Amino acid sequence: MVSLAIVVGPKGRGSNMEAIARACKAGTLKASIACVIAPTETAPALGRATELGLTSTTCPYAPEESYGERLAACFEGCDLICLAGYLRPVPAPLLQAFPERILNIHPSLLPEFGGKGMYGMHVHHAVLEAERSESGCTVHLVNDRYDEGRILVQRPVPVYSTDTAEALAARVLEQEHIAYPEAIQKRIHELGL
Ligand code: GRF
Repeated sequence: MVSLAIVVGPKGRGSNMEAIARACKAGTLKASIACVIAPTETAPALGRATELGLTSTTCPYAPEESYGERLAACFEGCDLICLAGYLRPVPAPLLQAFPERILNIHPSLLPEFGGKGMYGMHVHHAVLEAERSESGCTVHLVNDRYDEGRILVQRPVPVYSTDTAEALAARVLEQEHIAYPEAIQKRIHELGL
């Protein structure tokens, strides 16, 4: 069975983690979640992980090189790493240890509205300010540049002139929950796992 690690953010609700867990349970995603990793013990996603019966651990962010090593140790035995709300650059040793095996989800149709500082509600505000008629989400492979790895799956949504950033975020999030399991399954197939 393909083994996944899910990395959530400090404030993440863990809704993508939950969507992935449900897809594993339903069998539409042929994998299982070995571990959920959060940067702080207060991450809301950790409570949800426990409710879902998932194993979790914390790995506090630190600027030193040892951080990359500590993080890598959390992923031992995992086939794929799925970032869902992780906001830091992925340490180089980790990219080398899991080449083309780290996935991320971003709440826009990349390459638009990506890059440093473009995360969470900043993305949706920027889309509305640019008066786009379409937005969406992207699951992509992670490399050493923010949001620039190869795109695996994109799902568009309409943007309405009456939209608030919150309404748009909710519409995009629904699609994230479909896109992430789909992208993981695609990567499993590509790698022949
Ligand atoms: C999602 O909006 C995702 O696009 C971004 O972080 C958010 C995580 O949400 N990378 P959740 O914790 O999975 O609900």
